[in-house]
Amino acid sequence: MSVAIVVLAGDGIGPEVVSAARAVIDALGLQVDYDEHAFGGAAIDRHGTALTDDTLEACRSADAVLLGAVGGPKWDRARDRDARAPRPEQGLLGLRQGLGLYANLRPVRPLPALYSASPLREERIAGTDLLVVRELTGGIYFGEKQRSAQRASDVCTYSVTEVERIARVAFEAAGRRRGQVTSVDKANVLETSRLWREVVSRVHGDDYRDLSLDHLLVDNAAMQLLSHPAGFDVLLTENLFGDILSDEAAMLTGSIGLLPSASLGEPDEPGLFEPVHGSAPDIAGTGAANPLATILSAALMLRHGLGLESEAAAIESAVDRALENGLRTPDLGGDVGTHGATSAVLEHL
Ligand code: IPM
Ligand code: MG
Repeated sequence: MSVAIVVLAGDGIGPEVVSAARAVIDALGLQVDYDEHAFGGAAIDRHGTALTDDTLEACRSADAVLLGAVGGPKWDRARDRDARAPRPEQGLLGLRQGLGLYANLRPVRPLPALYSASPLREERIAGTDLLVVRELTGGIYFGEKQRSAQRASDVCTYSVTEVERIARVAFEAAGRRRGQVTSVDKANVLETSRLWREVVSRVHGDDYRDLSLDHLLVDNAAMQLLSHPAGFDVLLTENLFGDILSDEAAMLTGSIGLLPSASLGEPDEPGLFEPVHGSAPDIAGTGAANPLATILSAALMLRHGLGLESEAAAIESAVDRALENGLRTPDLGGDVGTHGATSAVLEHL
């Protein structure tokens, strides 16, 4: 079997961490065709836009898309000079929307070997194993935006269909895990959250009554992620809350440099797999970037994007064993760089 993967290395540390992930995929002996495209700031420099039609088309016809990271101070400065200048992040948002990637999965599973790297005390973090299911193509990210000299607005909207389909993703995932969904909203204030809560409850009552469902207000959820992280199984939430809570949850592991993500749409469409971290321009090119989040994203790609479960599990256990055997990148207080970390994973594969 040969698989076609579009590679969007992007900006900053993106190219370094993506090439680490490719080395790990290649070690599995699969037949892979890589198709590389400039994306984000790199595409702005070359084509004047963060996501070209050509790149979007290539992604649509691929089996999966592997992404590094986008953004950097260079394009932020261009934007400061001219508010109409293109932004690298527009590429990411355009890709999510263009591929219909409404379901973002962000697993957070701190390894016992790394409990001491967590900012939380070990007894708090012990046993934490949660999955953030974030709605990715709706809400305030994609609502109407307006700007005048004195006022700005971003509209938050959700339709019943949009809530239903992401709720199903969360319940299906919970059915394969510990059977417990916590839906996060702000139903005491927001109308979209009241709709969200109603629809999630109905989907649960109709089709998933054997699973447990709780509702939590987002401020309380932010607090409980720090006080009782091990109490969560699947955290289901809308786009903006999910953006914020998944960074918070990522830090439970000690570093956002470890967190992978999968963005999925309809089953026959390609998924997008990328680390949760950004382009880290401050360390780009120094060889210090932690490639593990991208390597773990490649594992999610094999599992969810290509149906290669045993290959995915092999990568995940190689990462776990490398960390258990003392692998520590600078973000985890160590001094092993991108190459060393990649070699350590390859040794255990
Ligand atoms: C993420 C990022 C993006 C988001 C940015 C880069 C647009 O923070 O994937 O979490 O807000 O979704
Ligand atoms: Mg984010």
